[in-house]
Amino acid sequence: MAEFVVEFGKDGRPVEADGRLDAAAFHRNHEPIWAVLEKFLAGKSGDVVEAGSGTGQHVVHFATRTPDITWWPSDLNERHLKSIEAWRTHAGLPNIRPPLQIDLTDPAWCPEMHDGSGPTELLAVFCANVIHIAPWRVAEGLFAGAARYLRGDGRLFLYGPFKREGKHTALSNAVFDTSLREQDPEWGVRDIADLEKLAKAVGLALVETTDMPANNLMLAFGRR
Ligand SMILES: C[S@@+](CC[C@H](N)C(=O)[O-])C[C@H]1O[C@@H](n2cnc3c(N)ncnc32)[C@H](O)[C@@H]1O
Repeated sequence: MAEFVVEFGKDGRPVEADGRLDAAAFHRNHEPIWAVLEKFLAGKSGDVVEAGSGTGQHVVHFATRTPDITWWPSDLNERHLKSIEAWRTHAGLPNIRPPLQIDLTDPAWCPEMHDGSGPTELLAVFCANVIHIAPWRVAEGLFAGAARYLRGDGRLFLYGPFKREGKHTALSNAVFDTSLREQDPEWGVRDIADLEKLAKAVGLALVETTDMPANNLMLAFGRR
């Protein structure tokens, strides 16, 4: 069964002196995720926001492979923001910007997105393992912001476990869903049909679904 982490650094995994946190799932999922993102990002340039970056490890991994893309990691949690910045400093890559403090329940995300100090016209938004460990309004704000900030050919990539037509795709996801809802009744594995409705309401549509290891999916949304 998938595990969920609300705050990294409290699960007994080592914490570096500079604040870099380590997510167990990152080591399992970053290569399969990259294989999907790479197909879209290859040969392109522009800005990509990662929503709910957690430790910050994914952005470092992806930025090393995409010198023409500027990565903007983000999170709401202060400890995670410190870890993201520590990973950024440790990597020393010119194409990773300091983390934005984005609260995804806010459809405008954060002031930097509209005061000129942040990115505009995003090539992509990437969000892994966030919307099932958060209230539905986080998904609403994620889609609203993506619709507002994505450029014409941009994509919103959502990685995680999802239901299809109201049904779990695996028993392990059903068990995981129960454990999420026991922790917080507002959390839970989301149904693709509900996400498609959310997307439609803001002018986006599901353009690609990719099966991923461990009963996860990658959903890609673009402009309708
Ligand atoms: C399970 S972690 C996933 C982290 C990372 N994407 C990964 O795959 O390792 C969920 C992340 O969502 C963030 N998060 C939760 N609620 C949020 C909100 N309202 N706005 C932005 N981020 C939020 C948490 O702080 C946490 O970093």
